[in-house]
Amino acid sequence: MGLTLHTMRGDLTQIASDAAIVNLFDGVKRPGGATGQVDRALGGLIGDLIEDGEVTGKRGNNVLIHTPTGRYGEFVPKRVLVMGLGKAGDFGYDDIREVSAVAVNRLKGIATTATTIVHGGGIGGLDTAKASQAVAEGALVGSYSFNKYKKTSNDSDNRLGLLNIVEFDDAKIPEVRSGVANGIAAGEAQNFARDLVNEPANVLSPEVMAEAAREVAHEHGFGFEVMDLAECRSMGMNAYVGVAQGSHRPAQFVHLTYEGDPSDASNNVWLIGKSITFDSGGLSLKPSRGMVTMKGDMGGGAAVLGAMKIVGAAKPRINVHAVLPMTENMPGGGAQRPGDVVKAMNGKYIEVDNTDAEGRLTLADALGYARENGAARIIDVATLTGAARVALGTGNAALFGNDDALMKSVLEAAETSGDGMWQLPLDETSKRLNRSDIADVKNSGGAPAGSITAAHFISEFAEDTPWVHIDIASVSMITGSRGMFRTNGATGAPTRTLAHLAASLAR
Ligand code: BES
Ligand code: MN
Ligand code: ZN
Repeated sequence: MGLTLHTMRGDLTQIASDAAIVNLFDGVKRPGGATGQVDRALGGLIGDLIEDGEVTGKRGNNVLIHTPTGRYGEFVPKRVLVMGLGKAGDFGYDDIREVSAVAVNRLKGIATTATTIVHGGGIGGLDTAKASQAVAEGALVGSYSFNKYKKTSNDSDNRLGLLNIVEFDDAKIPEVRSGVANGIAAGEAQNFARDLVNEPANVLSPEVMAEAAREVAHEHGFGFEVMDLAECRSMGMNAYVGVAQGSHRPAQFVHLTYEGDPSDASNNVWLIGKSITFDSGGLSLKPSRGMVTMKGDMGGGAAVLGAMKIVGAAKPRINVHAVLPMTENMPGGGAQRPGDVVKAMNGKYIEVDNTDAEGRLTLADALGYARENGAARIIDVATLTGAARVALGTGNAALFGNDDALMKSVLEAAETSGDGMWQLPLDETSKRLNRSDIADVKNSGGAPAGSITAAHFISEFAEDTPWVHIDIASVSMITGSRGMFRTNGATGAPTRTLAHLAASLAR
């Protein structure tokens, strides 16, 4: 079972739990606020430990103090965890998410219940609701694990099951409550996306992924359509069909519709997520080393589905469409060949130079479908190129687009959510690499500027519709931990950015 979050008004020193989580800024000698309250209840113990240099506010410093009930007068919690926040000057919502995530992990195997204050809650410039949301998001995303196939693990022993988020000031409770509720919706949606990405490809076929999408649609009352390969062929989606024809597993082209503004169909945004449930490379077969993580090649689709869950809860006044062209990329007997030419839905001919550049082929027709159905704005999200990771490492997704206003909106949404994103150019010099001798365009530009040529290719199918492309191959899966992500595997990025974007574009 996951972590349950509960908002409550009260005095931290009087709430029973295995651990009370408080904090300290760098340089503070005499703790104030809730930490000061705890310090006084413990007879100045935290102050003494600060004097000794054991407890500090340095970022990353965290000290667990044992306070057995009854030993410290009226102080009730069994332990106190003091989290260092770093310098107060540059403390923001992303830091809150990280501190919250690190704290719940520090208590792993130790506490089953804990009580935390809202980190950053008392600081000028930080909004109580947003800080509360960040605490909730960090706790949920930070405590995530994918252990359904670990029958023998002891992961469930002393697992943190309940986190109380406590506020002393009555007047702030409504804001804390609404912030925590938003944080729960967002954190759970992101973890939902991570589950889909982490699920192995033998289990998560296109049909199983389509079923997950259907459940999201039913849960929130979205429109739901799924088209099989024959229907896609008859609509002219030969670029998508070409990728799907090498697999025995039936492809599923899924379209979800949230109608937030039924009176105005043109008030819309279309979210397109690359949904390759396994990418073997096709006949341009990947080396085995490059194939092991390719169960995650539907990370774009997973983030879009996660975002739709948040949209369904937040109900912004805008129509949000999700398009997920699901298929495997396999080298079966029916597989397309390098050198094949296919005609995409928008009429352009594509020379398939490399069958491993399959994501852009499926996206070409998904964009064609979106435009055909009245898309006013298109965002596509895709684990598209290994080159994104070469260019940017694992801290930023690569952004491209043809519309400055939409690009700005995406960058702002990313800033709000804490998802790293960095814009790269769509320069004419790189565009030339996609030229084909025999067709309108080639699906691979070779090694140089790999993320840029991929984006140029997709732009051929966005045409004049405002469009932003997010290449998440750099950030979708990680090894080690970073920020609020504390475990190997899927991050679920950029689930929350997409939902923030939909909200910011709403009327
Ligand atoms: N799914 C891969 C991209 C990828 C690589 C995602 C590593 C995550 C981690 C994509 O379909 C692919 O194979 N891209 C090729 C493009 C090339 C053939 C032009 C790549 O990046 O090598
Ligand atoms: Mn590929
Ligand atoms: Zn791929």
